[in-house]
Amino acid sequence: MKEQLELIKQNALAALAAAETPAALEELRVKFLGKKGELTAVLKMMGKLSAEERPVVGQMANAVRAEIETKLEERKTAIHAAVLEAKLAAEAIDVTIPGETVTVGHQHPMNQVLQEIKDIFVGMGYTVVDGPEVEFASYNFTRLNIEEGHPSRDRSDTFYFDSEDEVLLRTQTSSMQIRFMETHKPPLCMLAPGRVFRKDEADATHSPMFHQIEGLVVAENITMGDLKGALITIMNKIYGHNAQVRFRPHHFPFTEPSCEMDMQCHKCHGTGEIDGTVCSTCHGEGWIELLGAGMVHPEVLRNCGIDPDVYSGFAFGIGLERTAMGRLKINDLRLIFDNDVRFLNQF
Ligand code: DAH
Repeated sequence: MKEQLELIKQNALAALAAAETPAALEELRVKFLGKKGELTAVLKMMGKLSAEERPVVGQMANAVRAEIETKLEERKTAIHAAVLEAKLAAEAIDVTIPGETVTVGHQHPMNQVLQEIKDIFVGMGYTVVDGPEVEFASYNFTRLNIEEGHPSRDRSDTFYFDSEDEVLLRTQTSSMQIRFMETHKPPLCMLAPGRVFRKDEADATHSPMFHQIEGLVVAENITMGDLKGALITIMNKIYGHNAQVRFRPHHFPFTEPSCEMDMQCHKCHGTGEIDGTVCSTCHGEGWIELLGAGMVHPEVLRNCGIDPDVYSGFAFGIGLERTAMGRLKINDLRLIFDNDVRFLNQF
């Protein structure tokens, strides 16, 4: 029996020394120390021993068990450490590898210019408001003194939703003049930027969807001089001092008198040509139309319950894309809508 114990001990110690994984260790523990293990099997036969032999063999069996247990613990610790080390090595981060650069986006050039313009007007006391793009014909046309049958109401120019031509995609932000005067009484100063829609073919200066910035000021004793002053002030702020602009008489049904304001073409500097060919940005005009404006028509004030004998006002509608083109020296309006990042990243 002593030999048997000695053999178990040697086998166990050798097997434990060779074990590499926690699972292998557990298997060996069951094999040698478990209830059905080899050591237990030997101990079960102790009854057959003589009274003198029994304590000797018993002591030896305990010593063998203790030695196997010690070795088992030792291997457990060693294997655990090895596993941990392998894991750490596998997960190691090489801090010398260059990081991935995260590109930070920026505002669309048109929004940059819009933000600039809004800031300037807010500084002059204007309230910035938003309004519906799907609009009633009464706000977009009728109450702005644009009568039935006026060419701008034609189905070839305007996107309508219904057969009665009552609901449409607004063709101008001027609809916001009516909405604002419906809810505010003079003195008032409003700025309403937003999208407008027309059945236009896209070219260097046209698009079926574009942005306008509507302005409206109504109070006592407002004159055309106030209008010119406000517009020249803002142009100087956007384009730098002495922006080259001109006012031309024009007609709008909702203003009287009315005018348009042009900015000198930033590409040909007003000459209308570049190296002997017609400038493609201003079509040879030398000027780019930026906005329509005028003194609010008395009928429009009346349509909003404001007495034209007491109050007067001016209004304007700035084309945002064209203003941005001049501000950022962009030659073709379509670039603004293409959303090609190679273009957008230049601003
Ligand atoms: N709504 C006009 C257009 O789209 C522009 C305009 C002209 C706006 C005169 C105004 C204005 O406020 O007074 O062509």
